[in-house]
Amino acid sequence: MASRGAAPRAGNGTPTGVPVTSSGELPDDVAIGAQTAQAAGMTGAVGRTLVCADTSGSPVVLYGVGDPDALDASALRDAVAAFAHAAHAARLELVLPEGPLLTPEAAAQAAVEGVLLARYGYEPLKATPSVTPVSSLTLLVEDASAEAALRGAQRGLVLARATALARDLANAPPNTLTAVGMAECAARLAAESGFRIEVFDKEALTELGCGGLLGVNAGSAEPPRMIKLSHTPADHGAPRLTLVGKGIMYDSGGISLKPGDAVHATMKNDMSGAGAILAAMTALPALECPTAVTAYLMCTDNMPSGTATKLGDVLSIRGGTTVEVLNTDAEGRLVMADALVLASEEPTDAIVDIATLTGACLRALGAEIAGVFGNDQPLVTQVLAAARDTGEPAWQLPLARRYRAELESDVADIRNMGGPNGAAIHAALFLEDFVAGVPWAHIDIAGPAQNDKAASWRPRGCTGFGARLLTELALNFRPVRTS
Ligand code: BES
Ligand code: ZN
Ligand code: MN
Repeated sequence: MASRGAAPRAGNGTPTGVPVTSSGELPDDVAIGAQTAQAAGMTGAVGRTLVCADTSGSPVVLYGVGDPDALDASALRDAVAAFAHAAHAARLELVLPEGPLLTPEAAAQAAVEGVLLARYGYEPLKATPSVTPVSSLTLLVEDASAEAALRGAQRGLVLARATALARDLANAPPNTLTAVGMAECAARLAAESGFRIEVFDKEALTELGCGGLLGVNAGSAEPPRMIKLSHTPADHGAPRLTLVGKGIMYDSGGISLKPGDAVHATMKNDMSGAGAILAAMTALPALECPTAVTAYLMCTDNMPSGTATKLGDVLSIRGGTTVEVLNTDAEGRLVMADALVLASEEPTDAIVDIATLTGACLRALGAEIAGVFGNDQPLVTQVLAAARDTGEPAWQLPLARRYRAELESDVADIRNMGGPNGAAIHAALFLEDFVAGVPWAHIDIAGPAQNDKAASWRPRGCTGFGARLLTELALNFRPVRTS
């Protein structure tokens, strides 16, 4: 962090991002005039950039920030992402813009998030990396704002790193990241970041009666893992939030085998919910999160084989509810059910689950927006607020109990799929049966977990969606019911 007065631009070839508003006005020391910049397409709109130089010959990247009165964190993230793409160097500096909607703290946070996330690439398996990660970012701010901006930058760094971790976990091929690997990784992160971890293997899961996770695992050569994480603030009266994540390391569909199409080829990302939670847990101690957070990550792959769960099999979920499996590709809700029961058995103020649960949700809301369901409107409202504030968009869908009859089974307490229409709602209704009336919200990220086309700070591939949303939710969480 450098203040604008005390530390002028580094010179020495470090590209400096300089904001240009829609008025088109340029600082005096930029070596081109406003008219030339206009002619080269620098309108000042968010997303526009122009590489030029300052009067001493040092590289300058003009980046559009639009109307300063409308510039919020989300627009700034987009604006600096364009800067990060235009300036290819590892070391960058950036003049932070100002505006009535942005405190210096929020601006610095958004700038760090936008720059670091735009320059993310999953490259550990490539001989020749194609993305230059950012090794240093200097923010140039007014002296009076320096302290606040530093706080924001530190927060942005924690959140950007958490998102990159969630992306790494989801982008990791399913042969390199198995359920066992996920548990080992979580143990390393717990030791590094300062949260607690408990890992449950097949024997422990059998003991607990987790027939959902075991049933989905039945066709797999890789053993399952349930990973329980906890962040405990010093305050014993802290509000309590329980998170549940779908951790299907690879979803082949099982006996209801998926066709070999492009969507099937993305199914290593079916643990994105669990990955987002694990990533959020790494951020909570660093941000001194005042909420006590417990998390269950339900990890296995979903494979067909001679030992796989068959159509018509009945599984017994933790607590004894029986489920008739009529489609082994509706596996997420089976593994989640065990965890929701475990979550509701312990004292908690709310349960929030996150899962790449249904293709129907992707159809309904497209690839950028998550679906949110819940049995408690104030809790759903908190989830939507966290989504808005992090630029990870979510939209509420109805928990329409009129469709619950479609889940009735001839032979068991419930079946794992309804009719052909409203499948995202059926999945949510199924989950609701296992939360025992505890305030609960369900986030379906089947769409935004994956990005087919790079846009702004979201590169192609797995997005890490949810890591920042869940962190924000935990940081601001208020219990919604007192009973
Ligand atoms: N992991 C999928 C959901 C999914 C589909 C995520 C497409 C992202 C893109 C999930 O396990 C699944 O297969 N769901 C089925 C449920 C159906 C069988 C009731 C689906 O959505 O088709
Ligand atoms: Zn799945
Ligand atoms: Mn499936």
